[in-house]
Amino acid sequence: MSGEDIYYKGDSDYWKAYREGRPRVPDSYFERIIEYHARNGGEFNVWHDMGAGSAVHTRRLAPKFKTTIVSDSGASNVEAAKTYLGEDDSYKFRVAKGEEAADLEPGTVDLVFGANMIHYTDVDETLRAVLHQLKPGGTLALGGFGLPILLDPELQNLWAEVIHRRFEVTFESNRSAVGLFVQASSPHDAVPFDTQYFRSGALRLKFNERNGWSWRRCMVPKSLDESIPHVTRFGEEDVIVHENNDDWSFEADITVMRKILETFPLPPDPVRDNLWRQLEIAFGGRVVPATWPSSLTLVTKR
Ligand SMILES: C[S@@+](CC[C@H](N)C(=O)[O-])C[C@H]1O[C@@H](n2cnc3c(N)ncnc32)[C@H](O)[C@@H]1O
Repeated sequence: MSGEDIYYKGDSDYWKAYREGRPRVPDSYFERIIEYHARNGGEFNVWHDMGAGSAVHTRRLAPKFKTTIVSDSGASNVEAAKTYLGEDDSYKFRVAKGEEAADLEPGTVDLVFGANMIHYTDVDETLRAVLHQLKPGGTLALGGFGLPILLDPELQNLWAEVIHRRFEVTFESNRSAVGLFVQASSPHDAVPFDTQYFRSGALRLKFNERNGWSWRRCMVPKSLDESIPHVTRFGEEDVIVHENNDDWSFEADITVMRKILETFPLPPDPVRDNLWRQLEIAFGGRVVPATWPSSLTLVTKR
């Protein structure tokens, strides 16, 4: 079972709700990608937004490059991307998996960006496809935005219960997709970069894991630690950086949290509904500070 079977066969309405419920990604995040790419000698001709969905982030990087390839494995998502971006000759659209690159000229892409998507793919196949298309000295940037942390211990505990319950139910009904859940619950920790093909020193940035809440712990209940182990496939010279970054802060109320929850499929579940009611009551009319754990993994092709 692939990720697409579980999630994401979206039309424009689906993606509108997704945009509302996922984080406002700060400019500094994209500036970091550009800075890394330039520092490592990258050029600014062609970039590829892989697994772009409805082009959620495409406009954030497109102005820096002459040509933008937008791809997604779902045809309806690529249609939604075309509608969202509009007509522009600098955009080239593909319905293609991350694992597929035979239609792209070898060594022609300067930067590949994949946000919140690599866990849905066969990671080794996707890395092979990325290496096929990247120029030597080109950048692979993997983005990931996890689940928010409410900076109020009582509310965070209740929110985590809602999220953990949803995750548990999704896992139980898709047990054969354990590889997907291992990848999804680690901020790219299980994505390896073979230094035969990538320069050593992959940069693994991890933002806003705080108050004891890691990306993984926000998502996976302790009861699933054995079934869904935390797999790390770090290289010896990888650089792992943890940072708090206030650019990701936001003000959370119960309406905002509902929008975030609704970016996931929510099959009927009275247990989750009950947990949600407890969160609603505890929130009352309050607004509390919150932040998004996120990750950015940057590596250069040899
Ligand atoms: C969570 S959405 C991410 C969309 C966008 N990149 C973002 O960060 O908001 C995951 C996307 O990955 C796509 N996807 C799933 N399996 C894929 C695969 N094997 N190759 C490429 N994209 C895939 C889905 O269709 C979906 O659009």
